[in-house]
Amino acid sequence: MEIKKQKNLRGELSVPGDKSISHRAVMFGSLADGTTRITNFLEGADCLSTISCFRKMGIHIEKTEKEILVHGNGLHGLSAPRETLDVGNSGTTTRLISGILAGQKFVSEITGDASIQSRPMKRIITPLQAMGADIISIKENGCAPLRISGKPLQAIHYNSPVASAQVKSCVLLAGLYADGVTSVTEPVLSRNHTELMLNCFGAKVESAGTTVSVYPDPVLRAAEINVPGDISSAAYFIAAGLLTPGSEILLKNVGTNPTRDGLLRVCRDMGADITLLNENTNGEPTADLLIRSGRLHGTTVGGEIIPSLIDEIPMIAVMAAFAEGTTIIKDAQELKVKESDRIQVVTDNLKRMGADIEATGDGMIIRGGRPLHGACIDSHLDHRIAMSFAVAGTVCEGPLTIKGGQCVDISYPGFYHDLYKLGN
Ligand code: S3P
Repeated sequence: MEIKKQKNLRGELSVPGDKSISHRAVMFGSLADGTTRITNFLEGADCLSTISCFRKMGIHIEKTEKEILVHGNGLHGLSAPRETLDVGNSGTTTRLISGILAGQKFVSEITGDASIQSRPMKRIITPLQAMGADIISIKENGCAPLRISGKPLQAIHYNSPVASAQVKSCVLLAGLYADGVTSVTEPVLSRNHTELMLNCFGAKVESAGTTVSVYPDPVLRAAEINVPGDISSAAYFIAAGLLTPGSEILLKNVGTNPTRDGLLRVCRDMGADITLLNENTNGEPTADLLIRSGRLHGTTVGGEIIPSLIDEIPMIAVMAAFAEGTTIIKDAQELKVKESDRIQVVTDNLKRMGADIEATGDGMIIRGGRPLHGACIDSHLDHRIAMSFAVAGTVCEGPLTIKGGQCVDISYPGFYHDLYKLGN
């Protein structure tokens, strides 16, 4: 995939639906009684993997141009899959579905691509086993493929060592099948879409600070879910709009849940001009984002803000390389276990473009403001790396090529089309 410099970006864009929310809508709709209608569903490869897994467990899911209809079978209505559940590249599918499968009356196996087979699953195996689940890593390496033999589960209070919404959600979903109230405490609050959406389906979920509790055996009722635009996808256009001189763009209907909006706070710290319009605070909050280009300066990103922008750090690092001064990103060791080792991959690729960047154990130090040039970028088949460097390619001098650039389909089919649509 070859990317060329853009003069300026102008116009309006609606980014695709939120990936985290789309996954959950299919999962919870499958466990509910009745038909759940999902609009603005993200048809990225990851969310299609979730649909495919639930179809294999007997859930009838219809897909039309406008919406997804999930004909749920109730909390105890899944049937044993006849084949292995293939989650493709999706960590969210793997970890959330494991919590559900732990409480079923059947045996199932989960596998995925090479990236999934190297990502850590001990973080869900440990709490699920504490609940009495029978879950093993088949190759005994703490990774997928996983085999889960459903068992009656005991409620626990889990003190999670990581601020991970996937771990939290896995335990809460297993908690639906447990014998009492299950709770999870995280070191820092991670995205709370599971809590918000489970309540909307009729489950009883209570949050207090960084602790969330779920009551077992709820009757889940079908819901209407209108998925907001994904702020993690908007991130690429926020960055492109800020970095390309003479740009002014309006990103419509973007999810601005405070557990996800760290990028906006960091951009403002860097001196960005971002205005929120048409704010809607019912359920999952949304707004239109008006982005105007301007000079950015370095900042420090670390501590409690990290979970709220974890997927945006590759983009922040690229922005920091174009900004004046030094940016320090710390407390972000989780980046090493994403679809790729994002600390290493971002560092290597930015170096190829001429940036002054150093990888640290938990982040990066970027001395910005050097002139950056096109290069051959290796995406490592990580969608967020491909999109972050595509934006870099629209700003730097000379053509930039992305190896494996089509992996953007994981979370943003049509990404390159949208990038060029706004460009001049
Ligand atoms: C997600 C949670 C985050 C995020 C991922 C989606 C979710 O992962 O990086 O892209 O939908 O719950 P962790 O929970 O592992 O931090």
